[in-house]
Amino acid sequence: MACTLEPEYHRGMAVTDANPDSFRRMDESTAEQWAHIGARTFENQGRVADRMIMLLESLAEISDGFITDQLTHCLQTATMAEKAGADDEMIFGALMHDVGKAISVPNHGAISAEMIKPYVRDDVYKAILNHQDFQGKHYYGHFGAPTDLRYTKYDQTESWWPLCAEFTDDWDQQAFDPDAETYPLEHFEPLIRKVTATTKQALGD
Ligand SMILES: [Fe+2]
Ligand SMILES: [Fe+2]
Repeated sequence: MACTLEPEYHRGMAVTDANPDSFRRMDESTAEQWAHIGARTFENQGRVADRMIMLLESLAEISDGFITDQLTHCLQTATMAEKAGADDEMIFGALMHDVGKAISVPNHGAISAEMIKPYVRDDVYKAILNHQDFQGKHYYGHFGAPTDLRYTKYDQTESWWPLCAEFTDDWDQQAFDPDAETYPLEHFEPLIRKVTATTKQALGD
């Protein structure tokens, strides 16, 4: 049965578009109901960028003893990526690489990587997923931990390996300078919206 509710919108997202005619159990669903849900989900895709921006903004509250807050660090990393000529997906990855710290620091790389996975190519996903182990080269020695994880845990012939090395060595580990050039979040907003407008992921991926 077709839904007759007209949705209301907040920040471009439909917020009152629940369908009273939809199923109570998935095994009782119809193709028509799923077509309706699919159309609404597509219309609301802008919510992804909104939520990512919201989480990035929340990083301004997190410093944890670093000289810069984590939003500044992410913006500065993305600024370095952009100035080095990285493409849109890699700039987006650089911007989002530590956004997982908004939820949990120990597994932030995996959280960040999964957030961007549907919107970037596999090399960018893997570079962000594994960036902490690569970053260890620059400071794990202070903790008595191995600094060569990038060589012992990973295969250097993997296509993402050089990208992850460039990301951590040239941008991420250098982006804690309060005096370095740092583009504002507004600069990256069109890029966030563009990259997250469509997903590369299909059902079953
Ligand atoms: Fe990180
Ligand atoms: Fe970082």
